[in-house]
Amino acid sequence: MSSISSTLKHALSSFQDTVKVKDLRTDTVECTPSSGLTTDHGVKVADTDNWLKVSDGSLAGPSLLEDQIAREKIHRFDHERIPERVVHARGTGAHGYFRVFDDSAARWTMAPVLTDPSRTTPIFIRFSTVQGSKGSADTVRDVRGFAMKFYTEEGNWDLVGNDIPVFFIQDAMKFPDIVHAVKPEPQNEVPQGQSAHNNFWDFVGLQPESAHMVMWVMSDRGVPRSFRMMQGFGVNTYTLINAEGKRVFVKFHMIPELGVHSLVWDEALKICGQDPDFHRKDLEEAIKSGVFPKWTFAIQAIEEKDEHNFDFDILDATKVWPQDLVPLHTIGEFVLNRTVDEFFPEVEQVAFCTSHVVPGIGFSDDPLLQGRNFSYFDTQITRLGVNWEQIPINRPICPVMNHHRGGAGQHRIHTGSLNYFPNRDNVGHPISPSQGGYTEHKEKVVGIKQRVRGAKFQEHFNQAQLFYNSLTDYEKEHLKAAISFELSHCDDQRVYETYSRVLNNIDFDLAKTVAQNVNGIVPEKPARQNHGKKDPTLSQTFYSPKTPTIATRRVAILVADGFDMPEVEAVRATLASAHATTWIIGPRRGTVYSAGETIGSGKGLVADHHLKDNARQCMMRSTFLRVLLMLKHSRKMVAPLTGSARPLGTARPSGLLAMVLLQSILH
Ligand code: HEM
Repeated sequence: MSSISSTLKHALSSFQDTVKVKDLRTDTVECTPSSGLTTDHGVKVADTDNWLKVSDGSLAGPSLLEDQIAREKIHRFDHERIPERVVHARGTGAHGYFRVFDDSAARWTMAPVLTDPSRTTPIFIRFSTVQGSKGSADTVRDVRGFAMKFYTEEGNWDLVGNDIPVFFIQDAMKFPDIVHAVKPEPQNEVPQGQSAHNNFWDFVGLQPESAHMVMWVMSDRGVPRSFRMMQGFGVNTYTLINAEGKRVFVKFHMIPELGVHSLVWDEALKICGQDPDFHRKDLEEAIKSGVFPKWTFAIQAIEEKDEHNFDFDILDATKVWPQDLVPLHTIGEFVLNRTVDEFFPEVEQVAFCTSHVVPGIGFSDDPLLQGRNFSYFDTQITRLGVNWEQIPINRPICPVMNHHRGGAGQHRIHTGSLNYFPNRDNVGHPISPSQGGYTEHKEKVVGIKQRVRGAKFQEHFNQAQLFYNSLTDYEKEHLKAAISFELSHCDDQRVYETYSRVLNNIDFDLAKTVAQNVNGIVPEKPARQNHGKKDPTLSQTFYSPKTPTIATRRVAILVADGFDMPEVEAVRATLASAHATTWIIGPRRGTVYSAGETIGSGKGLVADHHLKDNARQCMMRSTFLRVLLMLKHSRKMVAPLTGSARPLGTARPSGLLAMVLLQSILH
């Protein structure tokens, strides 16, 4: 190994071996062939297959309750499940690291995680869908969760965002209603992984504050191509506090290096059946093949004095802060470079809380955020128990010391006799802000106690219109088709009539098309004028990668006996150097022999999948691929395989880039 590559390897492994990954090792059991079986109390087990019985050896005989080994095995199995998350039940996660480029954010915050470029902060991210249960399909039309845990030296910071920058409701008190409305209906638990049903469209039709988010979910953003190609948003308005105690309002943004891409609806529907685990496998494949998903991290900041200078309320989570009004400052990046060792203890038990912030980061009066701060902390008790913050994936990497005691699953053992404060030895004493103690920003609050929303919270359509106006023509067509599809699944006339009226507040043409498609109320004139404004940063087409890339694109190469090996090897090497993955499809799975080799002997090439007679037998479906390649010199040999043209000629819209690049490689 050259000294350069050994240095690189060392640097890489130090990023993969973050402090958190090392911390998890203390709870990791290495499972090796020499690992013998024991009970939970550590006694070696001699027989794990036969319950202790009274038997003469030829007849079964009764099983004995005294068999602790058998009872323990069944008892542990009986209690393996925990409640799934009430929302975002379906998801997957990975480890990685976060770092800032410089200290430019120090003008806003004193949080070292956002200002100290010498730090590498371990992170864990869980991506999820919202509506479906734990076993639902990945590629349904839905919002995607983008939940980040930063294990900072000052404690855990959880940024629990989505892939859409706005939310359905303005006040957390409406959350149970929107979730009940979108989840499977109570009378028959239908539908799964869908918002295409009466209750959802009934609710959003009567709750116009959701109009903006409905536009986003019905756009291509609702069917992301990959978790790695999703933009992330903190959504809520947070605050940052700098060393001088000055506060700014902020929104957090995550921008994927590979650009923002979607499936088309037809692909998404097919993949739901062909490979319901498509997104979680895609993430795993990318990380395991060493092409680590990467995002830049950016902040929008508004000074306190400017809080009221906008025609929307900056604390309203149904609004974006348009980038021409509030510029985006890129301050850092993060990378996912390690898959989990075991899904349950890591992905299932990870638990996020919006209320988990560190000094330098704070909340605003955003009424959605305020309610979330109660909800997450509360719900973890049902799912994981009161000591959920001690579970390995959730525990901080910095020391934890307090006088909280007991509760199911308590892991910490405290020495001494003092579990209260003040005490005679000053054990577990408060730490002053100058020594790093968290302190709330001082703020004068005067008001009348009442149940209200701010005046600017009453306007619901300006930004829904801005979003729709900002889409390209084909994105608009996709959106119209998506709403028509969803409303067509509603069989209560009141539902699709109400929603076609809502749409007329956003765009006349949109409302007319959808109403005609679904038998809604076709409007004669717009309910309000279209302001005509656009913001190019709202269309996902704005986020193409800076340099065109085929990294992590899947390219299948069709081979048959007699194929040209040097040609295939050359193409594979070229694609590998561009970090694309190649998949060999042959007449059968297993070895396929090149020109000059005898079938049945010779080195050959191992086909990953087979394609013969019926394309439906092929495990590597065209929907999973960006390109299917028939190479020039092997074309004659593979021709018989292509009798079924179905999997061929299926360059997907999201694969066009790869097609072009491959042609230039080949010619
Ligand atoms: C800005 C709006 C919101 C965003 C971006 C958001 C995002 C998320 C995400 C990403 C998760 C999944 C976390 C994970 O991967 O484990 C989640 C779960 C959850 N959210 Fe929200 N959410 C929002 C609003 C709300 C509101 C208003 C409430 C309640 C008042 C709420 C309650 C919950 C609950 C109870 C869970 C399940 C948590 C668990 O069991 O671990 N969310 N949310």
